[in-house]
Amino acid sequence: MFDSREQDFTPHCSRWDPDTRPIKRQSQKKTRNGNGFSFCLLMFLCGWIIINNGTRPVLAADAEKQGEPDWTYVQMQPDDVHQGDLILVNQEYACTFPNMEKLVVVSDTKSESYLVKNEQEKLLPQTVEALNSLMDDFLTVAGSVRINVISTYRSYELQQQLFSQYSMQMGVELASHWSARPGHSEHHSGLALDLGAYQYGVTQNYDGQGVYSWIGENCHTYGFIVRYAPDKADITGIYSEPWHLRYVGVPHAALMAQRQLCMEEYIEWLKGFSWEGDHLYYGMESGVYEIYYVAAEEDGTTVPVPTSGEYSISGNNVDGFIVTAYFKDGIPERTEKE
Ligand code: DAL
Ligand code: ZN
Repeated sequence: MFDSREQDFTPHCSRWDPDTRPIKRQSQKKTRNGNGFSFCLLMFLCGWIIINNGTRPVLAADAEKQGEPDWTYVQMQPDDVHQGDLILVNQEYACTFPNMEKLVVVSDTKSESYLVKNEQEKLLPQTVEALNSLMDDFLTVAGSVRINVISTYRSYELQQQLFSQYSMQMGVELASHWSARPGHSEHHSGLALDLGAYQYGVTQNYDGQGVYSWIGENCHTYGFIVRYAPDKADITGIYSEPWHLRYVGVPHAALMAQRQLCMEEYIEWLKGFSWEGDHLYYGMESGVYEIYYVAAEEDGTTVPVPTSGEYSISGNNVDGFIVTAYFKDGIPERTEKE
């Protein structure tokens, strides 16, 4: 069972921009009915995951929607694979830098409940929004301690400096397990940040212990993962960094925490839920998420999205797109895909 929060599903990737229009529609196909009511009832009582094996959870058809197609299509460009909240950035997959105009100054947009190192620190707005909620709630357990956000967006040059410093101290091989090579850091994305432990005017190393353990245990509820876990170092290539949070969005962070998957494993796992095949359904108190993968094509990719509910599309920075759809009142009745 999951500890989940009621929260709006706010689209963050560029595909939500008003200038993005579906390009074509699919005609209505055979109606598929299912024994959905009891399923949806269960869904509201507890968190669940369903891997669709032929029975989708459905609600009674909304009369207004009858006769409407279930799916429409969004055209993604080849470069879009490298954008979005679910990009995998590591030694193998470089980060495509975000449009700098999208970054916001943390000190201008943060809540009162934490500090930030200086007025130059920047992140994407969805990262700050989630951080504000996380830090506001951390206050309920924090006592006299606070968080000082000590590193956010980094330019290529800054990462180069850091990597060089580490390399001079410990040699390039060891350095590469503590610091990403320039161009390969999540800090280039605006989705990652480092926490410092702050008390009585002093910032110290954040080890995620003691009162700070609340953050590691609960950050998934706000859409963050602790990206570099000690038991995943052989996969991530980076030694344990309890201070490094990465924003991926609520259902994904919760799923990764529940299944104990690091980003590399999760991106691979999601490929098993293609649009043509079984989708992943994940119920939280606030509603149901439907998640599926669409492989990228060289000249651009047509991504099917539901006509009802809200959705976002993120590139995975590897080879495709992940659609995350949200339905406050459960998955609508659907027709079969052909
Ligand atoms: N310390 C992390 C891996 C980075 O440099 O991005
Ligand atoms: Zn970091």
